[in-house]
Amino acid sequence: MHTQPKVLSPTGGHEIEDIVFDQETIQARVAELGREIGDYYRSGDLLLLGLLKGSFIFLSDLVRSIPRPHRVDFMVAASYGTGKKSSGHVRLHYDPETNLEGKHVLLVEDIVDSGRTLHRLLRLLETRDPASLEVCALLHKRVVSVDVPEPRFVGFDAPPAFLVGYGLDYAEEFRHLPFIAALKE
Ligand code: IMP
Ligand code: MG
Repeated sequence: MHTQPKVLSPTGGHEIEDIVFDQETIQARVAELGREIGDYYRSGDLLLLGLLKGSFIFLSDLVRSIPRPHRVDFMVAASYGTGKKSSGHVRLHYDPETNLEGKHVLLVEDIVDSGRTLHRLLRLLETRDPASLEVCALLHKRVVSVDVPEPRFVGFDAPPAFLVGYGLDYAEEFRHLPFIAALKE
């Protein structure tokens, strides 16, 4: 007998509390950020360094809205393991091969929480003599506990909830959601 295939909901269940930033709001803000970045870097070589995995969707939308030439590379760092709390320990798994010397480097982050990831990566990247080093974070929780500079570009101030979607994960799930949602406690 033919049985209907089970239909999966996009979130695979009911763990989502509510949508914090919907697709339309995100798209509009990312397009605006692209224009802000284009206005800010009027000359020189621009390199966007995407911090994987969390920034992969944000970065792919962002680069398409920056109306000036630039290059893209990636870094892989992990601080969370599989939980909701930062482990406080940042591990670097992939280091960009691009030479940063003399380039305007813009580090692209999904979300700034404790600021530890940024703190560690900025210190490392500064040693490579970029012409400038700035941060573009899609979200900022405004709970930074370490001494990190304010990102030059911020998409949205975020509530202190644990957020998923648009690249952000919980235990590697939910990255594909086109919106950003708070996870149920
Ligand atoms: P920080 O080092 O505490 O600032 O944490 C930064 C990293 O933790 C981000 O790049 C994210 O990958 C992850 N992270 C922090 N807050 C959240 C969240 O609410 N949802 C998903 N990932 C988060
Ligand atoms: Mg993560």
